[in-house]
Amino acid sequence: MCAKPISVDDEAGWIPICDLDRLKGEMIVRVAGRDLLVIWNDGDVVACARACPHEQADLGLGHVAAGRLFCPRHAASFDLRDGAITAGWPSPPLRLYPVRITGGQIWIGSEESRSGR
Ligand code: FES
Repeated sequence: MCAKPISVDDEAGWIPICDLDRLKGEMIVRVAGRDLLVIWNDGDVVACARACPHEQADLGLGHVAAGRLFCPRHAASFDLRDGAITAGWPSPPLRLYPVRITGGQIWIGSEESRSGR
């Protein structure tokens, strides 16, 4: 996983992250003062909080499988479509952020999207 923080704001609240071609697996970025993960998930790009909503573990140390992000601390997992945590865990959903692809460039909206979408 790339641990190279990026911090570039644009006026409309969308931040250019990198060329889509450069996203391999996951990368960590800094957007509007927040550390986020940008994840290539089975043909889709997902942006989410880096900190686990359960007990703040670094999800950048976790792994992605079958559309879910697995936390390295307690092994709960989050659905990358809506942020929902594994059933039975006392935790809010993972925070997701809006993503758009324009001209082969990944952009992330600086505002949280639907919490757990
Ligand atoms: S800290 Fe992530 S599941 Fe507990």
